[in-house]
Amino acid sequence: MIKVIDLTVFIYLLHRWFDWVYRESNGMGDSHRIDPWSSQQSTDYQRLTQKFGLESLDLSLIPDPNILHRRGIIFAHRDFDVILNSIKNKDNFGVLTGLMPSGRMHLGHSMVIEQVKWFQEHGGDVNVAVADLEALATRSKSLNEGRKTAIEEYIINYAALGLKPNSTKIYFQSKRPQVQRLAFTLGRKTNLSELESIYGFQGDTNLAHVQSPLIQAGDIMHPQLEEFGGLRPIVVPVGVDQDPHLRLTRGLASKTNWFNIKNRKNGGLTIALSIQEENAKILGVSPNGALLRETRNDIFEKIKKQISRLGFADILPNPKHGTIEIPGATPRDKHPLKMELLKLERNLGGMGLMPPCSTYHRFAVGMTGDKMSSSKPETTIFMDDSIEEMSKKVKRAHSGGQATVEEHRRLGGNCSKDVAFQYLEFFFETDDKELEEIRKNYSSGRILAGEMKQLCIDKATVWLNDLSEKRDEWSGKLDDFLANDSY
Ligand code: TRP
Repeated sequence: MIKVIDLTVFIYLLHRWFDWVYRESNGMGDSHRIDPWSSQQSTDYQRLTQKFGLESLDLSLIPDPNILHRRGIIFAHRDFDVILNSIKNKDNFGVLTGLMPSGRMHLGHSMVIEQVKWFQEHGGDVNVAVADLEALATRSKSLNEGRKTAIEEYIINYAALGLKPNSTKIYFQSKRPQVQRLAFTLGRKTNLSELESIYGFQGDTNLAHVQSPLIQAGDIMHPQLEEFGGLRPIVVPVGVDQDPHLRLTRGLASKTNWFNIKNRKNGGLTIALSIQEENAKILGVSPNGALLRETRNDIFEKIKKQISRLGFADILPNPKHGTIEIPGATPRDKHPLKMELLKLERNLGGMGLMPPCSTYHRFAVGMTGDKMSSSKPETTIFMDDSIEEMSKKVKRAHSGGQATVEEHRRLGGNCSKDVAFQYLEFFFETDDKELEEIRKNYSSGRILAGEMKQLCIDKATVWLNDLSEKRDEWSGKLDDFLANDSY
């Protein structure tokens, strides 16, 4: 009898193990998935970078970096070099971000706005999505509640933080049909299996929730529509929890593209036609799959003409295969080439969408030492916390100090554990020299844990008071920020 039970238990465990191995090897293990709707964020940034193929940020390439750049808080990106080039060449580019209109705005939310401000100062036009449809789908907030929260909690603080109204357009997902139409259109290029593997959606996931990442893809791509500024690079600064949306959106964009650029085997680049139902005839494929020679030759002439201004010496067209090889092209030619091909695609009737660029920031630690979350007020500082509330939270915050003063003087404090220090680093102490001085003195034990907290309280007091003053100045004037279709 005992042997029989052993065997069934054994087989059960074997099953579980196989299941686990299968999920892990498919990248479906929970530990490998990022859930953008959960407050449980992974902070293993190195693994996330590797797993999802993010690129590291090279500080030396960034013109007048802000504190988040300088302090390594923005740590990774996708195609950020495209944006840096636009900045350098004074070409147009856009910034898009979104806010979830639920809960109260806290320090963690301000990090994206710091980045948006930096892009704005460097020539980007700014679009902000109020994710009222997403809040309805995933947080059960009515559109009316969402609107109120967006304006009274978030937009007022964006203004107070120094976002400039002249190049900022804030819109509501529910009020912009172009976003919804684009979401619907892009939805043709994905399916339930893909959403299941990216987000873990299952049979009981409600369909509004299933649609929300497509709406977000619509948010991210729609500034490229002609009526919202046309073809230009769009950068999306986010916390790493939002990367699944960017992966989805980038994939969707490239699946719509009519012309792909690949690295050529023996150096150089290859342009390849991407034949799809909607473009087959235009690109020279008849309904029965036969090559329409004349049409194809025509298209190739158009491609050659379109890219001629890039001045490649050698172009090897193979109309039959649908490829054009450019042996002399270098990786630097990829982006200009892409832009020309997207323009051509638009002229031929395609959408001509460019995959979005993105940057990723680390999360500030919660004040209790674990995750920051607006549903746990003790873990963060809200934008409108009183000085008393803030002081109380800082005094109770997780400390990197030693157990006794003697020990602290001898061993020094631990900055990488000390919340007060990290809040100075992330938010309140903008002077790098001051911050290094504080780091040195804390690590050597000269500054005590209580003194560190007081330093943080002093700086945070100035910060919060300033913000509150600015909120007063902006109150009643927020219409300057809202797009025309917000009403
Ligand atoms: N999903 C985002 C959040 O939970 C909000 C959002 C909607 C967003 N659309 C966006 C963020 C586009 C960045 C880009 O906060």
